[in-house]
Amino acid sequence: MKILIIGNGGRECALANSLMLSKQVTRIYLNESNPGVYDPHQEQGFLQVLEGKYSARFKVLGIPWRKKEELLLAAQREQIDLVIVGPEAPLADGLADYFLKKDIKIIGPTRKAAKLESSKSFAKKFMKKYEIPTADWKAFSTKDRDKALEYAKSLKYPVAIKANGLCAGKGVMLCSNTKSVSAALDKLFVKEEFGAAGKTAIVEEGLSGDEISFIGLFDGETYVGFPPATDYKRLKDNDKGPNTGGMGCVAPSPYATTEVKQDFEENILARFIEGCRSEKLDYCGFIYFGCIKTDEGLKVLEFNVRMGDPEAQAVLPLLKSDLVRLFDLCLKRRLVRARPGWSSEHTCTVILASEKYPRGKSKPQQIFGLEKIPLLNERLQKESEEQDETVLKMHPFRMPPVSIFLAGATVDEETAKKHKALGHRTLLAVGGRVLAVTARVSKLSAARKLAYDAAGNIKFNGMQYRTDIGKKR
Ligand code: AMP
Ligand code: GLY
Repeated sequence: MKILIIGNGGRECALANSLMLSKQVTRIYLNESNPGVYDPHQEQGFLQVLEGKYSARFKVLGIPWRKKEELLLAAQREQIDLVIVGPEAPLADGLADYFLKKDIKIIGPTRKAAKLESSKSFAKKFMKKYEIPTADWKAFSTKDRDKALEYAKSLKYPVAIKANGLCAGKGVMLCSNTKSVSAALDKLFVKEEFGAAGKTAIVEEGLSGDEISFIGLFDGETYVGFPPATDYKRLKDNDKGPNTGGMGCVAPSPYATTEVKQDFEENILARFIEGCRSEKLDYCGFIYFGCIKTDEGLKVLEFNVRMGDPEAQAVLPLLKSDLVRLFDLCLKRRLVRARPGWSSEHTCTVILASEKYPRGKSKPQQIFGLEKIPLLNERLQKESEEQDETVLKMHPFRMPPVSIFLAGATVDEETAKKHKALGHRTLLAVGGRVLAVTARVSKLSAARKLAYDAAGNIKFNGMQYRTDIGKKR
């Protein structure tokens, strides 16, 4: 089976590496480059990434998703069997509709269903109609700035001001007084920092509590949940600093108790499925419920029509079954038959981000120390094999104990040429979230320790990361 993944961030790197473990996959394609994709079944493992010895089972098309026609031609030429869309923007733009019309199978909802993420007012109306618990809110356009301010004053602080459209997780501003609400509205309406996405503002009651990302595959009838995860959204330790796409993640979420999972299934999931049926939302793909555990029970902060990033990097290493089989059942609308196996271990994912993240561009910087990760894995694997020789044989879909998923990283062509004789090359951090380090061990505290020990080997100028991912609060 040939699979094309759209997107080239950390989430897509995790999807690709996970799919590489499937014997059904003959080739993985990425529409754009990510140097971190490798074949974990090959002896060299992650060293392939550093040595540039790409697996024959991996190919980059080099076509941005916006060039839909070109992408379609390439998909037809390469006889792609399945397309998986990683990020939200192509889905909001109707990429799934486009491929479906040409009879190409795709994991990712249609444009209409993607509005659950691409329009916060659409999502909020949906939640209201189907009685899905969420924060009180109202939407305001530019001309209603004063009304927006008045409404914010009627709520208890903090108040969340959100851009209605897509902003890569960065369009939410939590305000603790009228002055900051006013400044946030100015960012949307006057400075237009979020462009068209900010033409409508959502003014929302601020909620507090632990956050849980419930993510799974949904075929329109059946939802197959992956282990719930907790993402750390703020840039700095102790949830300080601006919101980001996510600075780290743990799975399964320590906050997803049996009671919380039941609350999710009864009061959110069941109503969501009912809503999708009634609205005739044609769905085949990932759905992500961004939830917060309040004193009044679980509430939905947002729907996303894709996997999370870095949730994918934390959750996929726990999968013990063939991901291709899950996608296949989803496409056939037979998820009801799916019984994926999940490891009982814990993962902790730490994001190493560039200096200016989440705003502004950072200068490219050489990444040091990645070559130490395969050695670390070798040692850990030896130790675990000594304990239980059958571990690896029993889990053919297993990733190594420490996984690196690259995102804002690229190959330095200059040093690549220079080092060719030596057989290794340099990776450059080029901005945003550069890479994710995921550790998978039996206990969360040990996963946290291993993730930070592994991350301690990696360095680049301006590197930012949180030191409290997975820490008990
Ligand atoms: P959203 O894009 O709406 O999910 O928001 C991104 C992040 O902003 C969430 O994961 C929360 O951390 C925070 N957030 C969003 N809405 C609220 C709210 N009403 N109250 C408190 N925090 C919020
Ligand atoms: N990590 C949050 C998101 O992917 O939206």
